[in-house]
Amino acid sequence: MPQNHLTLAGRVALVTGGARGIGFAIAEKLIQHGAKVVVADSGGAIDGSSPDPSVLQEAIDRLGKHSLGCQLDIGSADAAQTAVAAAVDQWGRLDIVINNAAILRDHFIFKAKEADFEEVIRVNLAGYYYVLAAAAPILRGQAKRADQDSPYTWGRVVNIVSTAGFYGNYGQSSYASSKSGIFGLTRAAALDLARAKITVNAIAPFARSRVTEMIVPANEEQAIYKERALRIKPQSVASMVYWLCSERAQGISGQLFGVRGREVFLFSQPRPVRQFTMESTEAPLDELAEKAEENFRDSYTELVTDLESFNSKPLV
Ligand SMILES: NC(=O)c1ccc[n+]([C@@H]2O[C@H](COP(=O)([O-])OP(=O)(O)OC[C@H]3O[C@@H](n4cnc5c(N)ncnc54)[C@H](O)[C@@H]3O)[C@@H](O)[C@H]2O)c1
Repeated sequence: MPQNHLTLAGRVALVTGGARGIGFAIAEKLIQHGAKVVVADSGGAIDGSSPDPSVLQEAIDRLGKHSLGCQLDIGSADAAQTAVAAAVDQWGRLDIVINNAAILRDHFIFKAKEADFEEVIRVNLAGYYYVLAAAAPILRGQAKRADQDSPYTWGRVVNIVSTAGFYGNYGQSSYASSKSGIFGLTRAAALDLARAKITVNAIAPFARSRVTEMIVPANEEQAIYKERALRIKPQSVASMVYWLCSERAQGISGQLFGVRGREVFLFSQPRPVRQFTMESTEAPLDELAEKAEENFRDSYTELVTDLESFNSKPLV
């Protein structure tokens, strides 16, 4: 083990959805490097139904004495407060927040199911917001109490997003809306917390989990994608999170990363790529159409899904 293997000693983390999949790998990694971890998880099915406390219990048994389980549905302000309070009551502080819990309820937009949309937004987007809203005052308070001799340079937030939120994917209007919403949350929170030296970043992961396991391939291409996806272990996502939580990532904030096996990505963020000026604010249709053709034609973003864009052989 390298000399600095306990770089997170004394730090307390909250990992939502940490009882399974990517979240579990993150909790395991943070504990391995010295942190104490509250795992908040409902133990529900992929669509959020049927909460099962035994899932969390099993995870805590595996994670050991530096973990604490909080069995709840994170998609309410009260539940988020409870999870944050669990960390403070048990270990007296909170330094690291990993928003990771998410559900899927896919449907084509032309077969819209409003209740499913609302549920996905409640868990995947509002849940992240509620956790941040509950945790931010504590992280900021710790920063304020720091002094010259003991500067606080540690507050860390990592929001787990998805490339579906930036590329889009068939049938994933609810999920993609929640995930791109988290990107806006990441940017705004990064700005709000910058003065307190708390960093807020987002990671779009690719990893084997029960979600990838349940893909039912509709064609040969999807079968290849699934076979490749199942080879990617979640540990590389955990390593990225560990880096962002470490001292080495101080000052890196508001960024959008991706990780797939041994491949690590820094994503661009939407900024104007081309520009033209209209003659008047009520430009005639011809002028707009012609100028758009001339200035934008070669710069439009291709309408392909994230699965198509990342359907290459992963480096595992
Ligand atoms: N696996 C991938 O390739 C992949 C790709 C893109 C994004 N992601 C994202 O990574 C994160 C983890 O995904 P995973 O693949 O490990 O999924 P997973 O379903 O294996 O794990 C999610 C965990 O969150 C918990 N959870 C769900 N709703 C909850 C709620 N309301 N309250 C508390 N806990 C809740 C579940 O019980 C589960 O333990 C998610 O944010 C997901 O969107 C995963």
